[in-house]
Amino acid sequence: MRLCITNNIGLWAATYVKNKIKSQEKKAKHTILGLPTGSTPLSMYQQLIKMCKEKELSFKDVITFNMDEYIGLSPEHAQSYNYYMHNNFFNHIDIAPENIHIPNGVAKDIKQECINYESKIKSAGKINLFVGGVGEDGHLGFNEPYSSLLSKTRDKDLTIYTRKANARFFNNIDEVPKKAITVGINTIMESEEVMILVSGYHKAKVVKNLIEGNVSHVNPISILQMHPKVIIVADDEACDEVKVRTYRYFKSMQDEFSNLLEE
Ligand code: GLP
Repeated sequence: MRLCITNNIGLWAATYVKNKIKSQEKKAKHTILGLPTGSTPLSMYQQLIKMCKEKELSFKDVITFNMDEYIGLSPEHAQSYNYYMHNNFFNHIDIAPENIHIPNGVAKDIKQECINYESKIKSAGKINLFVGGVGEDGHLGFNEPYSSLLSKTRDKDLTIYTRKANARFFNNIDEVPKKAITVGINTIMESEEVMILVSGYHKAKVVKNLIEGNVSHVNPISILQMHPKVIIVADDEACDEVKVRTYRYFKSMQDEFSNLLEE
């Protein structure tokens, strides 16, 4: 696991994504990305849009799979993740609409929708880079604490804690859906590489537990310790609780990657 401490998460993550797409292009291969929502990745999306507008990057050969979607919100609902993705990203880049995949939260048969989504990921091939955020309780996608670490795409009840945290996007907590579709923890673990974006002191405990805690379903994101290729991109505040020794060690890892932004 590598940690990049930067106060420009958006640019760093976007540059990493750009380099991934470019290296796939060199191999004449398309890129399959897993994508998150939430407030943290917004700056990465803005940077990627800029790169695309300035013709530094094209999404023509990129296929995307989003992590999750609220059950009961249609794609037109302003708080659906489908709306978020189009509004904040897809409408501003040159991606082919048929290459965009987001779980359908208003599917007639939600269980079947989950099975179909998982098999769409399988048939597309391995996800090259899964980008994610993290909840304050360690949830990954909508894999809440105590989720099976071997889970696949399925419907999940949301905890009161998650609904409270996400109530800021709705008029009140009662409007926050009680259920969601989420890719499973194992779905994410099967990706070639995972990049997690974290910002702010309110996530410092999560970062500490993710890097220095035990692997446990109590803290679902901790499973990433078992993944061969993970990068945590975090700002200073999010790293405040990480032990000093570890912090320094990881600092040197950051240097290894600092040239990424100079390309
Ligand atoms: C939601 C999403 C997660 C996201 C989390 C953190 O619960 N389902 O995928 O990681 O929010 O969001 P934020 O970046 O706004 O803190």
